[in-house]
Amino acid sequence: MHPELIKLEKTFNRSILTKIDDPLLAQYQIELWMKRDDLLHPVVSGNKWRKLKYSLDHALSLGADTIISMGGAYSNHLHALAYVGKVLGLKTIGLVRGEQPEALTPTLLDMQSWGMELRFVSRSDYRLLRQYKDWDLLPNLKPRQYWLPEGGALGLALKGVEELVNEIEIPYDVLCVPCGTGTTLAGIIDAVPEQVSVLGFAALKNAGFLTAEVAVMLSRPRNNWRINLDYHFGGFAKTNAELSAFIEGFELKTTITLEPVYTGKMMYAVYDLIGKHYFKPGQRIIAVHTGGLQGKRGFG
Ligand SMILES: Cc1ncc(COP(=O)(O)O)c(C=O)c1O
Repeated sequence: MHPELIKLEKTFNRSILTKIDDPLLAQYQIELWMKRDDLLHPVVSGNKWRKLKYSLDHALSLGADTIISMGGAYSNHLHALAYVGKVLGLKTIGLVRGEQPEALTPTLLDMQSWGMELRFVSRSDYRLLRQYKDWDLLPNLKPRQYWLPEGGALGLALKGVEELVNEIEIPYDVLCVPCGTGTTLAGIIDAVPEQVSVLGFAALKNAGFLTAEVAVMLSRPRNNWRINLDYHFGGFAKTNAELSAFIEGFELKTTITLEPVYTGKMMYAVYDLIGKHYFKPGQRIIAVHTGGLQGKRGFG
């Protein structure tokens, strides 16, 4: 790996496993743990580092000096990329979905302050950008520019996600993760032991297409996984009083912070499914905390 990436990773915290201490879980004879990738780094937290690490290494090995990527006005991915770009001395360009807002979001302000060039693209053009799925496929890419598709969804991202799985040193039955593009889920499915079930929770409404997209990303077909589509709460980044109350209650009980776009919905879903006897008594579930807490500022 590139020495600058090794140096950066050395500054990271350990992602520990936290057991959720809740009498309700005991009542259903379920053990619930969280893999705390949110603790890795204040900015490059959660699945962001996992997904960026090997793509950035690839970009640096090619001599790239600019990374271009895409995301929304609250994008955790662009936020992490802008920060890492600054640390590594790389120029970063963020293609941001939608019109330039009158006042930049806190996420965009951070990105700008770390030197990312923001280019606002119409929603229809943004959708078109999704077709460029490999690092060299963005049209008009200049020499030394490297393209990272939405959410950092390159095949190399799976290699970083695999490391998250390999750090789990206790046996477990079910691994849960929130899904946007499904890249993190794919990396997890690829890496878990044969007997483990993997459950992804879609943050988007009408995300039925994700199953086929994730299947294509896998290095070999597996049948130990599924994507639950029932807990989007009306759509991406939509929330309601019930979800907010759950998050607040969970945070009070555990001192683990959740955000409402990904991890809050996943944990709500896990608790709801436990209450519906979806899991077998005696099972140990691990839910991956994919970070993204900076995005919570959009809901203040
Ligand atoms: C906090 C958080 N969790 C989960 C996800 C979903 O990850 P993926 O796009 O790999 O499915 C994202 C988006 O990248 C995210 O920001």
